[in-house]
Amino acid sequence: MEIKETILTGDRPTGKLHLGHYVGSLKNRVELQDKYKQFVMIADAQALTDNAENPEKVRENVLEVAMDYLAVGLDPKKTTIFIQSMVPEIAELTVFYLNLVTVNRLSRNPTVKTEIQQKGFGQSVPAGFFVYPVSQAADITCVQGTLVPVGEDQLPMIEQTNEIVRSFNRIYKTDILKECKALLPKIGGRLPGIDGQAKMSKSLGNAIYLSDPEDVLLQKVMKMYTDPNHLRVDDPGQIEGNVVFSYLDIFDGDKEKVEELKAHYQKGGLGDVKLKKYLFEVLNNFLKPIREKRKELEKNPQEVMKIVLDGTEKAREVAKEVYSKVRKAMCLDYK
Ligand code: TRP
Repeated sequence: MEIKETILTGDRPTGKLHLGHYVGSLKNRVELQDKYKQFVMIADAQALTDNAENPEKVRENVLEVAMDYLAVGLDPKKTTIFIQSMVPEIAELTVFYLNLVTVNRLSRNPTVKTEIQQKGFGQSVPAGFFVYPVSQAADITCVQGTLVPVGEDQLPMIEQTNEIVRSFNRIYKTDILKECKALLPKIGGRLPGIDGQAKMSKSLGNAIYLSDPEDVLLQKVMKMYTDPNHLRVDDPGQIEGNVVFSYLDIFDGDKEKVEELKAHYQKGGLGDVKLKKYLFEVLNNFLKPIREKRKELEKNPQEVMKIVLDGTEKAREVAKEVYSKVRKAMCLDYK
């Protein structure tokens, strides 16, 4: 089969990956690796844009994220996992692309705008953080990525990348850069946090990690937000906004059983504890093999690093080619 599209995607290594990452993009990546040429980047340089003072944290999490990728089923034979900062062509492309973007346009990027608010930067936004959408365009184009499996919060990045690609091709009268498309998750793209907030995230402290041990998983499930008015087992309960059911909808393959539980809960007579124990079993069955694979990988961190460094070398070969075409188009081919 001829593979026409190339996938480029990635994550910032600022913490371990959680179920929100799985639903938002990891699941897609694992499924797509059989059909496409896939690059998955550990975005350490992007992580540093708001972690300049925490290099150790970023360094540690490069390995954690790599282990999460492998544990969840990304196969290095099919997917090239690489480290962003070790492909210097990305930084170099960023410098050139920055000239094609206005400060005004960057300040209107909704993802960055929201993050600036969330992180409470106020007037002290690091310049590198402010321009990270441009470096993300360099990430994607450095391997000619045309498909980008990400969560919907990243859509503005894709839009901005395509604007840069079009400007570049128009100004330098070329067609070497390719536009890309986002690939959003099919079902339930956004997993709520265990506290009922719309998004699962590390900074909100409401995440279930792929590496959480069984007892931690149980504790988290037992703490989950359900229906605050469902006080007695016999009371009728609500499904909407009930996190346990949102998770069952996504993780339980037995749809009939989920419908049955929903009906029972709404009628009354199904207690939260019983329901949560059921969800725990479902999640634990899903996480168990991931956890076990990760345990194995943790015994051999050098092996994991080797996989990532081999991937980095492969990615760099591709990036060098694209970069040399870019220089040529920009009349910078001095030799
Ligand atoms: N910005 C992405 C995030 O916050 C990570 C990322 C960096 C990325 N470069 C990318 C995603 C390129 C897709 C394509 O998770």
